[in-house]
Amino acid sequence: MSTSSVFDGSATAQRSASLELMKYEIRSLSNAHAPEASAVIQESFLGLAAAAWRPDARGVFLEATAPASLQNKLNTMTFAAGAFSDGGIAGVILMPSPNLLGALFVRPRWLLRGIGRALWESARAHIEARFSEVNTVELNATPYAVPFYKSIGFVPISSEFERDGQRAIRMACWLPARALGANVI
Ligand SMILES: CC(C)(COP(=O)(O)OP(=O)(O)OC[C@H]1O[C@@H](n2cnc3c(N)ncnc32)[C@H](O)[C@@H]1OP(=O)(O)O)[C@@H](O)C(=O)NCCC(=O)NCCS
Repeated sequence: MSTSSVFDGSATAQRSASLELMKYEIRSLSNAHAPEASAVIQESFLGLAAAAWRPDARGVFLEATAPASLQNKLNTMTFAAGAFSDGGIAGVILMPSPNLLGALFVRPRWLLRGIGRALWESARAHIEARFSEVNTVELNATPYAVPFYKSIGFVPISSEFERDGQRAIRMACWLPARALGANVI
């Protein structure tokens, strides 16, 4: 897998004068990025998502996203990419298979600059180019992330549930909708 695209966050940043300008590049992650990718995921998880998880489930997540765990996983992903800025990796997306978005995390200080959307668009382009048989991508959204996922084209396909200590909503994106001009309901 290889991907590289440059995004100028300045247009998005104009939404608020308080947002710092930043440029970033979406690039593939390999096992060598495990320590930095782990730091991004865990900082974002603890700051924004962990409140909806039982303490034991938080521990399982932190273990699964520790550098040693990611060290063996990043190269096996269908798609693994980061938003690389001058200040390091600002966000990470991981797709363990072509129809599953497994993780999408942006560092809290870089929220609302379009990084989450850009990471998904990069993943989506990869899936559409390499796995044309895949029509739908699913994920488990934390309650916090549901409005974000709706903004980028996912719809809920379940009510909120708890599994293994994590509260989540199953969501899906039907990829052909965009080309067909079909609206998400
Ligand atoms: C969810 C997350 C990835 C969003 O990243 P982001 O870079 O801030 O999102 P973007 O700037 O690309 O936002 C894209 C759109 O979603 C909207 N959005 C983003 N976060 C939002 C929020 N918390 N509430 C409402 N809307 C939100 C933005 O306003 C934007 O809308 P628009 O383009 O239609 O105007 C980030 O908040 C995060 O890492 N959260 C913690 C981890 C998490 O919950 N990940 C999902 C695990 S299932």
